[in-house]
Parts: sequence; C-alpha cells; structure tokens
Amino acid sequence: MFTSISIVSLLSYFLLGVIGWITYKIFIWPYYVSPLRKIPGPPSDNPILGNLQSLLSSVDSTDPKLEWVRKYGNIVKYNGLFNKPTLLVTDPKIIQDILTSSKAYDFVKSHNEFNLALLGNGLVFAEGDDHKRQRKMMTPTFTHGNIKEMVPTFIRVASTLKGLIEKEINQGNSNINLSPYISKTTLDIIGLVGFSYEFNSLTSSNELAAAYESLFNKQLSILQIAVMMAATYIPIIKDISTAMDVNFKNACEVISRVSRQLVEEKYKEAENGELKNKDLLSLLINTNKILPDEEKMTFEELKNQIMTFLMAGHETTSIAISWALYLLAQHPHEQDKLREELVKAFPDKSNFNPTYDEINSLEYLNCVIKENLRLIPPVPVVSRFNVKDEVFGEYMIPKNTETLIGTSVLQRSTELWGPTAENFDPKRWLDPSTTNAANLNYLPFLNGPRGCIGNKVALAEAKIILGMLIRNFVFQPTKGFKIKKASFPLTKPDPYLGLTVSIIES
Ligand code: HEM
Repeated sequence: MFTSISIVSLLSYFLLGVIGWITYKIFIWPYYVSPLRKIPGPPSDNPILGNLQSLLSSVDSTDPKLEWVRKYGNIVKYNGLFNKPTLLVTDPKIIQDILTSSKAYDFVKSHNEFNLALLGNGLVFAEGDDHKRQRKMMTPTFTHGNIKEMVPTFIRVASTLKGLIEKEINQGNSNINLSPYISKTTLDIIGLVGFSYEFNSLTSSNELAAAYESLFNKQLSILQIAVMMAATYIPIIKDISTAMDVNFKNACEVISRVSRQLVEEKYKEAENGELKNKDLLSLLINTNKILPDEEKMTFEELKNQIMTFLMAGHETTSIAISWALYLLAQHPHEQDKLREELVKAFPDKSNFNPTYDEINSLEYLNCVIKENLRLIPPVPVVSRFNVKDEVFGEYMIPKNTETLIGTSVLQRSTELWGPTAENFDPKRWLDPSTTNAANLNYLPFLNGPRGCIGNKVALAEAKIILGMLIRNFVFQPTKGFKIKKASFPLTKPDPYLGLTVSIIES
C-alpha cells in the first residue's frame, strides 16, 4: 500500500516537473529570460508552432519574411517550434561574417535526422575538418573543363524533354503540368553526369525516380515540417514518425540501396585501373585512389556523396528552371527578347547544339537566369547554429541559437536593389554596378567554404534547358490557374507549374 502511494506521489512530482519545465520553456524563458528577447520581431502566433505557420506557408504575393524585415529590421527574432526564439538575419555584413570569415566553421548546420536519412552524411552535412577534407578532394571534380564535357548530355536530355512536350501539344493538350517533366529532366541529367547512370525517368519508370517522386511531388504540411524540426531535438521522433510514414521509409531505403550499388559497381570497375568515364563519381574514385590514406574517402562517404548529389543537384535546378519559365510567361516581352537572342544564335531550331562557351556567351540568357535566381532563389533560407557566443550588431547571441540566413529577402530588399527590387527585370544585370553590388547582396548559391559546389553545373544545365525550351516553344500563363510558391525547404511551385504551351514553327 505504502509503496503504491509513493509511486503515485513520485509520478505526480514527475508530472508536475514536466509541466513546470514546459511552461517555463514555452511561456517564461522566451519572454523574460532569453537574451534574444530584446531583439524586435513579430509576436508569436501560437505557443506550439510559434510563427512557423507564417514562415512556412506557401505564398502568392508578399512573403511574410519580407514584411518582418521591413517592419523590424535586418535582425528579426521570431518564435520557432515551442516558441523557441530564432533569428532571421538579412544584414549583408553579418551574413558575410557567418559564411565567409574565419568563423565560418563556428556556424554549423542542423543535423536533422530526416535530412540525414535522405541526403546521407555527405558534403552537405559534414562539419569542421571532415568537411574541409571532403571539400578539398571534391573541388577539382567541378572544374570548367569537366563541366564542359557534361554539355552534350545536357543537350541530349533537354532534347528528349522537348520531344515529349511537342508530343503532348500535338495530341491536343496545350495546358501542360510541366513540373514532373522538368524534375525528371534534371534527375536524368544528374544520374548521367553524376554517375553515368541511366535513370531514363523521362521515358520509362525507374525505382529511384519513383522514390524521389513519392517524396517531392507532394507539398509538406506544416505539421510534417514541425515533426521534422522536432526530430532535431528529440531523435526518437524520427524513428516513430518514419515507422508510421511507410512511404518515406521505403523511399529512403531505395535511395540508400541504389547509391550503395552504384559505388560498388564503380569500385569493381576501378580494380582494372583508372576509370575512363568523366562522371563525378568516377572522377572522385580516381582521385581517392591516389590520396594518402588519411585523406581518402571511405566507401560510406562516397555513397553519401551520391545521395548528396542526387538531392542537392536535382530538385534545386528543376525549381530554378520552373520559375524562369513562369516569370517569362508572366513577362512576354522578356520572353520575346530572349527568343530573339536564341534565334540569332541558332537559326535552325532543330540544331540547338551549343558548346559550353557558346551558351555562356548569350548575354540575355545569362541575365534571365541571374534575375530569376535573384527573385526566386530555389533555396530561400539556410539555417545555422553558432557553436560559440556571438555578437550580431548590438545584440549578444548565445551559443546554439538557430539563425536563418534570409537570402530570398536579402535579394528583394529595396535598400540594396533599389525601388525595382520586386520586379523581374533581367536587363538590370547589364549594368556593371548591379554586378558589383551582387558580391554581397546576391547569394542563391551562398558563398564561402560552404557555398554550392555544383553552381557552375547548375548554371550551364539551366541555361541549356531553358534555351532549348524558349527556342522551341512559347509559354503563357494558363487562364484561371494560380501558382503559389512554397516557402520551405525549397521554393517549389505549388501545386505545380502549369502553363499553356505552343510550338514555334521555325
Ligand atoms: C540552381 C541550382 C542550385 C542551387 C540554387 C543550389 C544552392 C545551394 C545552396 C544555397 C547551398 C548551401 C546550403 C547550405 O549551406 O545550407 C548548396 C550547397 C551544395 N550544393 Fe547546390 N545548388 C544548386 C545545384 C547544385 C548541383 C547541380 C549540385 C551538384 C552537382 C549541387 C551540390 C551541392 C553540394 C554538394 C552542396 C554542399 C556544399 C558544401 O557544404 O560544401 N548543387 N547549394
């Protein structure tokens, strides 16, 4: 009897403790204790989700992040999950300090269990010395010389895409959902240039392509995103939730198994000497063979790089091309100007066969891609946690604070880009003062030691696909169809990119 009363009272104390701790964390600490409480920002919308709903919902016109920055300044404190004070920073100097100064490695990423399951612990998530070693080894793989060799592959896959769109139009369907087409195009390309692997997802079914499609062809709900964030703090949440989300679990298994198989096959091939293919994985394996043991990548690390390339290089590029088409459909005059340039360079539309140097010499195409990545960067924010106490402006930032670097807001700031900041105006890139200012204010690929290693691949690929499409088709908005922009983790068109497409006769 006595024992059961003790257990009951112990349990009551425990419960009271838990309730007290939750009350403190959600209702007291953020408002009366945290040093971040003095930083201005929006009031919390909700004690559980904080401001996440505003931050993560798809937007059609004004982005709430932009409104916060206009109202509260370049350092904004908002409330994250369970009201956790979190920062949104758009001050170019602070951003450069985080990204490029000697302190860059003092700002680490969230090692969210979901991201790790999808991307593997490759270059995107490596930290400190591990990251330096992997980055040093991988950088030579992304030289201009190697990217030039990828161009015929970009053209071949873009041409398959062109054929499929023509087929749809010839069958009488001109209102086309372009999202799956573009996403499969960039998946097929990264398969080929990354690992000489034929997904052929544009023309056939493939289990890896199906795994990605099942993961990305649906918009994440706020609840799903909140669960992903909670898993950063309580890893068991990932196990419980993946056990319930059979689709996610199966897709991760397929991605991991196929990536492993690809490395195994290349390893076998490499036993007979240097690999002759110029895909990224072959180049990495060749380099790895001649490195001293302490610098070599392990089998597991190489497998993780495959998962990394697939994730980092596929959806991002597809989203960039999608918004370029959308913006050109909204601005027919710009679309005509771009087409004029393409027609002049490629008078025979059936012979769109540029080299790397030729595609980069097209000035207006370059301006369109740059302006598109400014207005709608595929990665709208990146998150960092400071491992030491820091000072941002006049504020002390305690260690382990989450800071979002708001590139999408920075790139639309009227202070930095002038009164036309929110307009799609490719010709601004013809003005040298824009290019100079862009060193600090334009970060679609970030910069510094953690900047995108694949940016030159992405730019060449996007230019070729966009060039092929604009040379062959006219894109117009579909009457009555509204497209929003997802806010997290990537700015995907929501629900999808639906445009009205017609064929250009000559
Ligand atoms: C338009 C297309 C792309 C955009 C907008 C983009 C953007 C970015 C951004 C913003 C980051 C930094 C993420 C962070 O630090 O949190 C990043 C990193 C990275 N990207 Fe890209 N990316 C694109 C295409 C590609 C492609 C095609 C590849 C590979 C072939 C690639 C591979 C990577 C890798 C490996 C990293 C990690 C780099 C590191 O931490 O050292 N990306 N990318």
